[in-house]
Amino acid sequence: MQALIDTSTAPGAPARAREGLLSLADRYDAVRARTEALVEGLGPEDMVVQSMPDASPAKWHLAHTTWFFETFLLGPNLPGYQVFDADFGYLFNSYYEAVGPRHPRPLRGLLTRPASQRVLAYRRHVDRHMRAFLAGELSPELEALVRLGFAHEEQHQELLVMDMQHLFAQSPLKPAFDPAWSAPAAGTAGRFRPVGGGPVRIGMTGEVFAFDNEGPAHTVWLEPFEIADRLVTNGQWLAFMALGGYRRADLWLSDGWAQCQADGWEAPLYWQHDGEAWSHMTPGGWRPVDPDAPVTHVSYYEADAFARWAGARLPTEAEWEHAVRSRGDLEQVDDVAWQWTSSAYAPYPGFRAADDAVGEYNGKFMSGQMVLRGGASVTPPGHARVSYRNFYRHAQRWMFSGVRLARDPG
Ligand code: AVJ
Ligand code: FE
Repeated sequence: MQALIDTSTAPGAPARAREGLLSLADRYDAVRARTEALVEGLGPEDMVVQSMPDASPAKWHLAHTTWFFETFLLGPNLPGYQVFDADFGYLFNSYYEAVGPRHPRPLRGLLTRPASQRVLAYRRHVDRHMRAFLAGELSPELEALVRLGFAHEEQHQELLVMDMQHLFAQSPLKPAFDPAWSAPAAGTAGRFRPVGGGPVRIGMTGEVFAFDNEGPAHTVWLEPFEIADRLVTNGQWLAFMALGGYRRADLWLSDGWAQCQADGWEAPLYWQHDGEAWSHMTPGGWRPVDPDAPVTHVSYYEADAFARWAGARLPTEAEWEHAVRSRGDLEQVDDVAWQWTSSAYAPYPGFRAADDAVGEYNGKFMSGQMVLRGGASVTPPGHARVSYRNFYRHAQRWMFSGVRLARDPG
């Protein structure tokens, strides 16, 4: 059986170079088809349920990504375009205040209607019109908006995997989202590598597409530091657990300790102890915890406590980016797990969100979240970049978040 989560194309430069060569129409078809391949193994009931407010039903992801193309591209730019269903704006607008009111996020799982079949018909309608739209000449501004639509749909592909994994983790029948999924390759313990300081350039570097939050590129000053060439492993995390990591308040930030106690954290999300061994939910279903694989599904608070326990710290996002750009020997950079940084998700100097509705895409979330860098095994191939800034709240754990340690020299 072929895996649903296609990782056959290694993420990174070659995939991005190829993307620049594909026509926009071919890129459109490929992105849309990948989403639908992801839901191939799901039944209509699987597509409706929302397992927590942070997650969304698969059906909602299918519709919302379609709504994005309809609302920001077809509606304003394809003459005579008629929306597929006048109610869908309310149902599938995620958070765009400028576009109008919307169905409350925590209630997305109550939308038994429209049926999945009708959502697929919505996709076909928008696909047909997008092909007509992409057949014409596009201004650079519109082309950028189309590429934003691709990147948006790819973000939702990863969210869909996260959300289905969370949903299936609740089931006593132990279903697997992608039974043929193979775990990322395990490795040996990492080593710290030195990185020189000084003025360094950070941010987008003129690729075919980057999100607005990756710019403006700018110079920051770094002191010399050291960074691990591999991610923290499950085995290292087991040692942290065995030596009381989840019981020692002195290792934790105050907010983190409160969260740890309130939620009864004793291990990463999805870990279960059956007799002697630990197993955890993966996209491939429940699997034994591999001590040599990178730890995933840890919160910022846990990552920070682990780093303190290890006599290290998390890298800042500028350290992370500069280390990846300047050293060729950092492993597991963008294909295993997102890596927490100690940087708050804030605007770069000179950042200004666009003043139209898509200006709400990233900028308005620049408060109370932390930046993660890299990319995960479930991130669509070619989606992330060295300047890519992912962001989540400190206590969230259902994304594929891991840890790369840093420390001060000496
Ligand atoms: C960057 C993953 C935090 O989940 O809201 C999806 C991605 N932005 N639609 C999110 C996103 C708009 C975003 N994250
Ligand atoms: Fe979205």
